[in-house]
Amino acid sequence: MTDQELVERAFAMHQFSYAPYSRFPVGAALLCEDGTVFTGCNVENAAFGSAICAERTALLKAVSEGHRDDWTTLAIAGRGQDYCWPCGSCRQMLYEFAPDLRVLAARGDGTFQEALLSELLPCGFGPKSLA
Ligand code: THU
Repeated sequence: MTDQELVERAFAMHQFSYAPYSRFPVGAALLCEDGTVFTGCNVENAAFGSAICAERTALLKAVSEGHRDDWTTLAIAGRGQDYCWPCGSCRQMLYEFAPDLRVLAARGDGTFQEALLSELLPCGFGPKSLA
C-alpha cells in the first residue's frame, strides 16, 4: 500500500465521522506490516470531553484485534487548511505501542506531510520509562 492510498483510506473515513459539535470530521488509517489496515474516525459526545479522536479509534481497533507491535504508518486526514497532526493524547497513546511510527498528516486539499512519532513526541514516556 502506498502512502497516497493510506491517506485516501483515512479520508474515506470522513463518511463515518460523528462530529456534530466541532463539525470537523477526521479519519485515520493505521497500516501494519502484514498489510492489514485499521481505520477510525472521530466520535464526539454531548459530554464534550468524552470525544475520541480518529487516531485513537484506529489504535483501539488494532490493539483489540491483536495487532499491537507491527504498525508501520498512520495516516490522518482532516478538512482544514492545516495538516492534521495528532493531538497530544493521541501521540502519547501511539507512543506506547509504536515509538518509531511514521505519521502522515493530510489537510483538506488532499496533500500531506510526513514525520516520525519520535519527532512529534520527543523524549516520550513509554513502557521502558517504567523499568
Ligand atoms: N480530532 C481528531 O480526531 N484527530 C486529530 O488529530 C485532531 C482532532 C478530532 C477531535 C474532535 O472530534 C475534532 O477533531 C475537533 O477537535
